[in-house]
Amino acid sequence: MAVPEKVLTNQDLEKMVDTTNEWILSRTGIRERRIVNESQSTSSLGIEAALKALDVANLKPGELDLIICATSSPEYIFPATASLIQDRIGANKAGAFDLLAACTGFVYGLNMAAQAIRSGSIKRALVVGAESLTRYVNWEDRNTCILFGDGAGAFVLEASQEPGGVLSSVLRSDGSGSELLTIPASGSKNPATEATVRAGLHYIYMEGKEVFRFATRVMAQSTREALAMAGLTLDDVQWIIPHQANYRIIETAARGLKMPLDRFVINVERYGNTSTASIPIAACEAIEDGRVKVGDKIVFVGFGGGLTWASLVAEWTGPSAPRKKVDPRRYRVWARLRSLLRRVLRFFEGIIWGRNA
Ligand code: ACO
Repeated sequence: MAVPEKVLTNQDLEKMVDTTNEWILSRTGIRERRIVNESQSTSSLGIEAALKALDVANLKPGELDLIICATSSPEYIFPATASLIQDRIGANKAGAFDLLAACTGFVYGLNMAAQAIRSGSIKRALVVGAESLTRYVNWEDRNTCILFGDGAGAFVLEASQEPGGVLSSVLRSDGSGSELLTIPASGSKNPATEATVRAGLHYIYMEGKEVFRFATRVMAQSTREALAMAGLTLDDVQWIIPHQANYRIIETAARGLKMPLDRFVINVERYGNTSTASIPIAACEAIEDGRVKVGDKIVFVGFGGGLTWASLVAEWTGPSAPRKKVDPRRYRVWARLRSLLRRVLRFFEGIIWGRNA
């Protein structure tokens, strides 16, 4: 995982909009969130998380076959942020694409990567959830600016003969709720113009109450569905790792599942809603501090704009058997050099073709 150093507390927000620490804490459970600085971006956080994940998996970037970047704040409509990550980590044998399913994207991405591996077409995939969502936040809108934060998390998935890994998943969408959570302009329907910018249509728009109702309804239901598909019950599950949007949403889902809250991994208090990054960040923290152990059954459950939602049941297998330790960071320098070299070559190629044309 990777999060920006800059912390924005509720007390800071009190100075920016008409709100209070007490209101934010009681309605959302959020105390603070991380915010990108000018030099950081969705891909820079994604790269940092990706390199750490490769380090844990003990893999060289060149061993990856596929990179999926789930994001709600891609750097561009195209090129895909996944391609920027691929280039900068030096994963020169990997395909790369972005996955757009709002906050549910990481769970969708895990499922896609697992199925690609299971089909036999690839062996290793990197799934990144990366966001600089605060770039789309209207810092004058107290309904939304208190909720979101930036960060990234990444998993490496690898083919294995051992049992475990992704056991089942349920992916769903209900586009009739598309207007409840949206960035109304800057896509092809409403391209960015002076008028759209003046009207603030490039910011996140959300009907909070409706989204709250939807989220609490689908979380318990899709968790049960995915567990049934895996032939498991809630008693078999050690941890639920939900999308970190709001403490009260998680609390309501726990009540719906009749499961104690201490079996949910919750860190919304420190990061706010980091969209696609929230589940991998929460998972990383729970793995690193020893809560999640090898052999544990976990449910990842996400929801978000679209509307979309998904649950995925996994058995945590941990990194595969240790091989000779590699530090993927050292490939970063080579990746940068290779990328520069390719640009220079393309430049000269352009001159040569220009002359011949
Ligand atoms: N500080 C103080 N008062 C506020 C604030 C604020 N930051 N924001 C709203 N209020 C006011 C409202 O204006 C309203 O005042 P009124 O009664 O005078 O009209 C009052 O507080 C209650 O507002 P509600 O919107 O009813 O508050 P609610 O209890 O629903 O909480 C919240 C709002 C926290 C946004 C909640 O609805 C929520 O969490 N919804 C889900 C949001 C979510 O999870 N979104 C992300 C989905 S994931 C993705 O894809 C990005």
